[in-house]
Amino acid sequence: MKTLALIGSGYWGPNLLRNYMDIPDVNLKWVCDLLPAVLDKAHSLCPTVQTTTSVDDVLRDPEVDGVLIATPIGTHYQLSKAALLAGKHVFVEKPLTTSATQCADLTVLAAERKLTLMVGHTFIYSPPVRKVKELIDAGELGEVRFVTMQRVNLGLHQKDASVIWDLAAHDLSILDYWLEEMPCVVDSIGRDCMRNGIPDVAFVNLQYPSGVVAQVTVSWLSPVKLRRTVVVGDRKMLVYDDTEPVEKVKVFDHGAEFKEPESFAEFQMVYRTGDIISPKIGNAEPLRLEAEHFLDCIGNGHNPITNGEMGLRVVAVLEAADASLREGVRKTVELGPSVLA
Ligand SMILES: NC(=O)c1ccc[n+]([C@@H]2O[C@H](COP(=O)([O-])OP(=O)(O)OC[C@H]3O[C@@H](n4cnc5c(N)ncnc54)[C@H](O)[C@@H]3O)[C@@H](O)[C@H]2O)c1
Repeated sequence: MKTLALIGSGYWGPNLLRNYMDIPDVNLKWVCDLLPAVLDKAHSLCPTVQTTTSVDDVLRDPEVDGVLIATPIGTHYQLSKAALLAGKHVFVEKPLTTSATQCADLTVLAAERKLTLMVGHTFIYSPPVRKVKELIDAGELGEVRFVTMQRVNLGLHQKDASVIWDLAAHDLSILDYWLEEMPCVVDSIGRDCMRNGIPDVAFVNLQYPSGVVAQVTVSWLSPVKLRRTVVVGDRKMLVYDDTEPVEKVKVFDHGAEFKEPESFAEFQMVYRTGDIISPKIGNAEPLRLEAEHFLDCIGNGHNPITNGEMGLRVVAVLEAADASLREGVRKTVELGPSVLA
């Protein structure tokens, strides 16, 4: 039996509450939030839970094995650090913190204390994202050439974070998982259409050492909800559309081949449009899989897939994309021992 506490139960926290409540062998003992009205709601969702406005109540409780942090991004570092120092395992919502330096600090602290630090990059636990990873790793697409990702809808404007920190965190974590490399060049443009200083639309371009290029479009201002990713390889191509109810991933046996000309007049591209296959994908809820993974990690000492190092890599790219947007410069991302130290 693991005893857990939820810190932050605004928009996203109740989703964590609902999932952990349903897992046997979890004692969800506390919900902590600064707002009493939020605590009343959490209590009606889970009547056995104790509520408090003080994080110290949670961190001082020796029964608590781990905390689930679902507070605004700017609070993640302080709360995670306090929890690790109090000897608690930490699950913290994405993005891990607001700077790579803070991420490195937490990663080192968790390792020193032999505690789990896991980041809520939920999409890494989603069956279609897992399926695409399987297809890439099995060489089904051949060598990946480029990726385009769109994540736009009429979404909740965040008070303290740009759309890059809020939405692109998802795509950057997916790219990190699929490609297993850090981009070397990041540049982005965007606009703060609604509120000064908080960009609500952004286009982020990424170049990877392997040659892969990617583009991520994010916005909270769109008449339709798009969650559409295209991955083009030199053998096959795929579309991952998370808004599709059933066939979220479609693999196209499509491509083009350039025939080396034997004479000047002979330039030839040969196009192939073969089968389109929609692989079978499980429909388990990503949040449930994420929760089970956290419990497995704290119970058995496993290293989370979305561990602190991954959280750090995502934040390093977010910082670069944010700086590029604000300063209008191309950023070269360097991530190595110096960042992790
Ligand atoms: N994984 C996902 O798909 C996903 C989706 C949405 C949001 N999120 C993440 O969840 C986190 C929270 O986002 P949200 O939209 O729920 O924010 P929110 O503002 O709706 O809720 C945050 C809650 O935290 C409380 N809070 C703030 N500071 C606190 C503190 N020091 N101690 C205790 N409680 C505190 C606030 O009172 C509020 O109720 C963010 O990191 C966000 O990026 C993740």
